[in-house]
Amino acid sequence: MVVVRHTEEYQVTDFIVIAHRGASGRWPENSLLAFRKAIEAGADWLELDVHLSADRQLVVLHDESLTRTSNGCGLVGEQSLAELRRLDIGMGEPIPLLAEVLDLATGKATVNIELKGKGVATAVAELLRERINSGRQPAEAFLASSLNEKELIRFAGQLPQVRVAPVAGQPGKHTWEWAERLNAWSVHVAKAAVTERLIATARQKKRKLLVYTVNDSAAAKQLKARGIDGVFSDYPERLIGQQNESFHAR
Ligand code: G3P
Ligand code: MG
Repeated sequence: MVVVRHTEEYQVTDFIVIAHRGASGRWPENSLLAFRKAIEAGADWLELDVHLSADRQLVVLHDESLTRTSNGCGLVGEQSLAELRRLDIGMGEPIPLLAEVLDLATGKATVNIELKGKGVATAVAELLRERINSGRQPAEAFLASSLNEKELIRFAGQLPQVRVAPVAGQPGKHTWEWAERLNAWSVHVAKAAVTERLIATARQKKRKLLVYTVNDSAAAKQLKARGIDGVFSDYPERLIGQQNESFHAR
């Protein structure tokens, strides 16, 4: 397999497999355990979703509501970090801080931070700036993405050295204008939206096309053959093929 060296520590293979919310098919999504397991399975890319707590701490979880993925209820933005940390998101795992996941990934994986909650752009830009300026992680260790155009534009204005990507379930003309304006590194699309025309447009616009969510290695191989640059997967261990006994042990 061709390996393109991004920096010495952060490698991008010729097909990118991004552990979607960590190795979330087998382990609690967006938990430190799921991210650690993804890295153990050989993933060199992690994807996560961020929100702000009521006391403006950056926490990692997908939904605005706590109900689906934790034993709590209500909205993440209405509870303090201390309250959120008491919750169980499965297998006794707490909701992680963004900084904790970045610490885990340092030197091991590039992190796609999806700006999910309202108002997260500034806080994420501040945290990444501090890590880049202190030499802890290079700017190449991150990719910020969002469905929310305003958040992504705000982020890009504050930290232009970090790559950005629009997320668009069904990309349209506006998506490509948005990608152009931000000089986006990639565009993230739902697999149902993938057509030959879309692939050709991405190539012509010189944007990588990353597809979510692909859990089957045969489907991933087909997408790769069609010219897709990478996929988000809940089962990176299946696609990377480095599943071993330690992956299944806690
Ligand atoms: O960015 C790819 C993917 O994470 C977007 O969908 O809902 O899983 O955050 P979602
Ligand atoms: Mg996401």
